[in-house]
Amino acid sequence: MKKILVTGGLGFIGSHTVVELQNEGFEVLIIDNLSNSTIEVLDKITSITNKKPSYFNIDLKDKVAVQQFFKENNVDGVIHFAASKAVGESVEKPLEYYENNIGTLVYLLQEMKANKVSNFIFSSSCTVYGQADELPITENAPVKPAESPYGNTKKIGEEIIKDTTKISKINAIALRYFNPIGAHESAKIGELPIGVPQNLIPFVTQTAAGIRKELSIFGSDYPTIDGTAVRDYIHVVDLAKAHIIALSRLLNYKNKTSFEVFNIGTGKGNSVLEVIQSFEKVTGKKLNYKLVERREGDITAAYADTTIANTELGWKAECTLDEALLSAWKWQETL
Ligand code: WQD
Repeated sequence: MKKILVTGGLGFIGSHTVVELQNEGFEVLIIDNLSNSTIEVLDKITSITNKKPSYFNIDLKDKVAVQQFFKENNVDGVIHFAASKAVGESVEKPLEYYENNIGTLVYLLQEMKANKVSNFIFSSSCTVYGQADELPITENAPVKPAESPYGNTKKIGEEIIKDTTKISKINAIALRYFNPIGAHESAKIGELPIGVPQNLIPFVTQTAAGIRKELSIFGSDYPTIDGTAVRDYIHVVDLAKAHIIALSRLLNYKNKTSFEVFNIGTGKGNSVLEVIQSFEKVTGKKLNYKLVERREGDITAAYADTTIANTELGWKAECTLDEALLSAWKWQETL
């Protein structure tokens, strides 16, 4: 049974990926410092798959602890989620973001190289494209100057990995996520934002649940179908499955080069108002919202060209926006 290390495996995307890995028969080891997750997620994963992942409460900034882990555990691959990911916070605390997102990536790659672990999947983001000149966005779209230190850590992270694959036996795939939303069908795991949600969907579901008074829609004067910004909202389970397929590509030596990049989105763009209409339709809830000024740093529109992921990776998103939003609501109802 192949053993896979999942860093940040108790987080939103990490936990859904652990479930899919276990469903595919992998043995999973999780490293998570609980800075943006809770230990209860470990039992929730176990209750879904009836298999308890091994869990290590390690902070990847602790180089000695990372060295110790790799000395004591032989893994066949690493899926790396652990990182700080709040765009706004990264503007206020750039050094914390560079230390946590870049420093830990370097430690991880150093130990992988030293211990001959050669398969690496990196959690990247469509944020590296900034506002792309052309839509849908292909993997060849120019990587633009980052709009935030968070986005910069993804851009720099990809470069670090690419350079490392050139001088080591490490093969890597960077998955550039569009907007992950929704929750597992069991409603046992989902998005757990700490404090006031920065992202749209958790704010929508918390408003519908009466936790927030009303949703502010940031900007209604964008050059889009209805003036509100457009994004590619992908169900987190579809996203999780893409990681398994990418990992298997490396484990089976199917990769064409030592560093590959794939856009992981639905290929469809939806505006904020379209998301609200869909949410109200599938849940029967009326959403309280108001139109306000644009949010600093937001782009007008982004949605993926998924041709390469579909043809080369053999992966395609299956869930619709309606299904993803309903799953997010069912999850919110359990909180
Ligand atoms: C989506 C749309 C907002 C909240 C960011 C990161 C990206 C990834 C996903 C980590 C935008 C609008 C939002 C609200 C709103 N993060 N909105 N009212 O900004 O596209 O992407 O999160 O990997 O890297 O950049 O996602 O959910 O914050 O916003 O109107 O209360 O919803 O303006 O148009 P975003 P988001």
